[in-house]
Amino acid sequence: MPEDWTERYRPASLSEVVGNDRAIGTMRRWAESWKKGAPKKKALVLKGEPGTGKTSAALALANDFGWDVIEMNASDHRNADSIRRVAGLGAVSETFSNAGEFLSTSEGKRKLIVLDEADNLFGREDHGGAKAISQTIKETNQPVILIVNDYYALTRKASAIKTLAVGVKFARHRDGTVLEVLRGICEAEGLTVDAGLLAAIVKNASGDLRGAINDLQMLVEGRKTVDVEGGDALGKRNQGVELDAALEAMYGARTAREARDATNSLDKTPDELIMWIEESIPSEFSNRADRAAAFDALSRSDVYLRRTRRLQHYGLWAYAKEMMTSGVALARSGPRRRSPPRYGFPSYLIMMSRSKSVRSSRAALCRKLSPVLHSSSREIAVSVLPYLSAMARNDSELLAHLGAEAEFDEGDVAYLLGTDPASDAVADTMDVIRRIRSGEIRREAAAEAGSDARRGTRLSDF
Ligand SMILES: Nc1ncnc2c1ncn2[C@@H]1O[C@H](COP(=O)(O)OP(=O)(O)O)[C@@H](O)[C@H]1O
Ligand SMILES: [Mg+2]
Repeated sequence: MPEDWTERYRPASLSEVVGNDRAIGTMRRWAESWKKGAPKKKALVLKGEPGTGKTSAALALANDFGWDVIEMNASDHRNADSIRRVAGLGAVSETFSNAGEFLSTSEGKRKLIVLDEADNLFGREDHGGAKAISQTIKETNQPVILIVNDYYALTRKASAIKTLAVGVKFARHRDGTVLEVLRGICEAEGLTVDAGLLAAIVKNASGDLRGAINDLQMLVEGRKTVDVEGGDALGKRNQGVELDAALEAMYGARTAREARDATNSLDKTPDELIMWIEESIPSEFSNRADRAAAFDALSRSDVYLRRTRRLQHYGLWAYAKEMMTSGVALARSGPRRRSPPRYGFPSYLIMMSRSKSVRSSRAALCRKLSPVLHSSSREIAVSVLPYLSAMARNDSELLAHLGAEAEFDEGDVAYLLGTDPASDAVADTMDVIRRIRSGEIRREAAAEAGSDARRGTRLSDF
């Protein structure tokens, strides 16, 4: 698998972290203050939404100051003991680097303890973990950075943290900043990417830089593959440009026929075209009544599309096409704005591309369950999976036996549990599944060991 661009372009130094200048300034001053020994506040709490650069900033800071990092995040063990163990490693004043080299605190060498996703660290029940964190901050001679999405979830569990740590707020990125970063990546990758597509990715990410970079990689890498394999590479690459021109002609049309014919040269079915037109309406129509009329025409067109699909009667496509082109274009009552807007990439396609891996793992899971549950994949996806997932979370035995029978892998278990495939819960379940499959755990024995209540775990009860 190709490297994630979010990793490839992770800033190595605080000076490369974009935006949030005040937050970065606070972090830098705090790190400077450690040069004179442990300051009064030995911890920072970085708070803010995902993709704003909290983790990157913490790691960049350690890099800039030559500190070693001890990192712990939500997928590691979640109890007080393991927190103490990890934090304890850094909690002594003189210590060793990861490479075993002696670190003299008087020379300013430090171990930075980073507790990432600290608000998720303990799940719903917190077995003293939050207390262990505040205790560690009190006792340590080493710098600590806590990272949270939800500051209140953390301080509810350990209110002492509020007084022990300096809060540093990371705001969402502005669209301009996100666009700048995406442009930089395109340049570094040697790619020319359509401006409309970039703008749509930026808009869709609403300040989440990680999301934006992921979308860019997914969309653009997909097209690159098309470039290599497909003969119509140029068509694909230029599709944004061609679409812009066609939509521009459609909206500039003076007659219904002109509007309809403007999109004829595009290699798009009405099903695809309607998504681009839908995306263009808000930026094309500033007058509210016109906008409503345009969407009304679009919805009529959608009715025809649906009938086409249901009746398999492609003659109806002509009506759909007419409504979505001339119907939409002529919804305007006044004159058109002079400078035409840029049209965006359909957010529906971006969303589908973003959720692609989730959807494909769900499909694979349904196929495995189909022979076991004597039901079609589709039926399972719609009416079994949600319940099965809830049951699996509450009954590990059920999950393991089902998994043994349907030959689950980590991805399947993770999907049902709604967790990371690398989590402990998944590893534990896989272990039981393997033992059931090897015969080490007998199904009957397991069923009998439980009382009548356990009978619910048998597959035949489905
Ligand atoms: N402020 C930033 N400056 C540069 N890159 C950033 C910034 N914020 C996020 N990124 C990019 O997004 C990715 C995810 O950011 P991350 O630091 O993990 O965010 P968070 O921890 O706030 O969820 C990084 O690997 C980097 O590529
Ligand atoms: Mg993070």
